[in-house]
Amino acid sequence: MKWNSHQVKIYPTAQEAALQVAQRVAEVIREKQKRNQWAVLGLATGKTPVKVYEELIRLHQQEQLSFENVISFNLDEYFPMAATHPQSYHHFMQQQLFDQVNIPPEQTHIPKGDWSTDQLQEACLAYEERIKQVGGIDLQLLGIGKTGHIGFNEPGSSIDTTTRQVVLDPLTRQEAIADFGSLEQVPSQAITVGIETIAQAREIVLMAWNASKASIVQQAIQGPVSAAVPASYLQLWPQASFVLDQDTAALL
Ligand code: GLP
Repeated sequence: MKWNSHQVKIYPTAQEAALQVAQRVAEVIREKQKRNQWAVLGLATGKTPVKVYEELIRLHQQEQLSFENVISFNLDEYFPMAATHPQSYHHFMQQQLFDQVNIPPEQTHIPKGDWSTDQLQEACLAYEERIKQVGGIDLQLLGIGKTGHIGFNEPGSSIDTTTRQVVLDPLTRQEAIADFGSLEQVPSQAITVGIETIAQAREIVLMAWNASKASIVQQAIQGPVSAAVPASYLQLWPQASFVLDQDTAALL
């Protein structure tokens, strides 16, 4: 493993990188268990965290890692979107993690894609409040979109944004065609936590292990800090690190 400035950790393969992230998540959960405290996790969706969740499930099944003290907050959800839709992030989280570990369902939170328009603002505020009530996020996992988005904070998202309804970038919708089948079926909006919500986490790990992300990852780490590449905000946060595989770090 190689360490360099801006807390960038580069591993030979995606598998090794994912195992390290899962180890860190498990460590946080166990440290908190010892102190009889909640471990508050910020969780991400997409292909990237799947390997991390696989390892967490293995640790649960084979190494007695318990999720009883975990409270989770997901970053985002498409809007409008029914929780039962196969492409919803609710469905994704059930399949990829929640159904396979012992996390009590009432301790998991995901912005809802079926909040009605008149309750949306209040529901977004309540999401922020709930995070604060449980003491804030201990460890926030992030992926990165081709636009440089974190959560669904697309280019243009300012540093003081909180949970809100957003319009998806055309490139993000394009990237989601593979999941939805056609552009028409990809929602054009989403609910996402904000940049400020993410910044308040005590530890932040942005994961990227896909060579097609090499350019946007390079811009996020070495480019100017700018709303044009929301992941570049991580450069400002001492508690944030980037975990990459070698191929994704190729342009650094
Ligand atoms: C979606 C999610 C992001 C995620 C991104 C990348 O847009 N809202 O949170 O980081 O996809 O996904 P993948 O990991 O599949 O490349």
